[in-house]
Amino acid sequence: MKTRIGILTGGGDCPGLNAVIYAVVKAAAKRGWETIGVLGGFDGLLSPVQIRPLDYREMDGLLYLGGTVLGTANRGRFTAKVGHGEKRAIDPAILAEAKKNFDALGLRALVVVGGDGSLSIGLQCYGAGIPIVGVPKTIDNDIEGTVVTFGFDTAVSFATEAIDRLRPHAQSHNRVLVVEMMGRYAGWIAAHSGIAGGASVVLIPEIPFSYESICQKIAEREAEGKHFTMVVVAEGACEKGGGYVTQGGTGAPGEARLGGIAAVVAAEIAKRTGKESRPCVLGYLQRGGVPTTFDRLLCTRFGASAIRLIADEKYGRMVALQPPDIADVPIELAVGKLRTVPPEGDIIRTGRAMGVCFGD
Ligand code: F6P
Repeated sequence: MKTRIGILTGGGDCPGLNAVIYAVVKAAAKRGWETIGVLGGFDGLLSPVQIRPLDYREMDGLLYLGGTVLGTANRGRFTAKVGHGEKRAIDPAILAEAKKNFDALGLRALVVVGGDGSLSIGLQCYGAGIPIVGVPKTIDNDIEGTVVTFGFDTAVSFATEAIDRLRPHAQSHNRVLVVEMMGRYAGWIAAHSGIAGGASVVLIPEIPFSYESICQKIAEREAEGKHFTMVVVAEGACEKGGGYVTQGGTGAPGEARLGGIAAVVAAEIAKRTGKESRPCVLGYLQRGGVPTTFDRLLCTRFGASAIRLIADEKYGRMVALQPPDIADVPIELAVGKLRTVPPEGDIIRTGRAMGVCFGD
């Protein structure tokens, strides 16, 4: 019988998920293996199992297609995260059912493509006897052990383009434009796109801000004859001594659904400076679209490397970019803590050298 492996995508959708599926299926086929796709995240492994065979001859087009042909979920019967950094043990009966179905499908290993939540679930499945290999996905770029996650570059490219498109508007109307970016508790998208897009103010969760500092920067620009200002704010940014701005509801189980800070910041800037200020929330647009060349290549390398790990029977591990190579690290290390922007690191130092105000 042919060696058969499984693959699933979990958590929020992200540019490049299909590119990883493409690479895994093709690299597996090269070894004469079959690949089965598990549908709708981990829940597809529960009875009645939801699967579809993935034929390597039908992978054309997946390299650049957004979303995931397997579907995904960040809620359901598998829940491994309840909040920022907190993990919850999955019901052993659920894990046992998944293991039983995994065995019945005749799978040798399961490739889990996901962020910290899905990789945490994967780790518990590994503990329950399912040979797992992880692939780090998230636009938030907040996973330890890899220099970058796939999807981040595409999200940043889009966010930078959004700043470019909004600047002429701000300039024409002498307005303050406050652009809100995703990233949850990490400010990678805001920091990278803010600096690449030439924003004057960049607010990230790692550096609490004050309105005095923001308004001083706006005043400096006015004094220089620049009557518009581009402000980038990460959804998880907080005022000094303040908390997260949330949308009331909850996101993934137990997690606050962040969002809405741009409106709060724009209103306060208008009140304090008298300038017309407008919020613009990029939202889910950051998770869609065609993956960039960088992400497609990274996804292809991650997929090929995941198959090498299975061939070498190196389970419980995650592929990771450690330039110039794709390395692998224990999944445990990757999900142990969130990787956030170092406030003293080169990105922030570079921003400061350009005169960017981080609100501190
Ligand atoms: O983790 C990716 C992400 O897009 C975050 O940047 C954002 O806070 C969150 O997911 C939104 O999740 P949901 O799909 O539950 O709204």
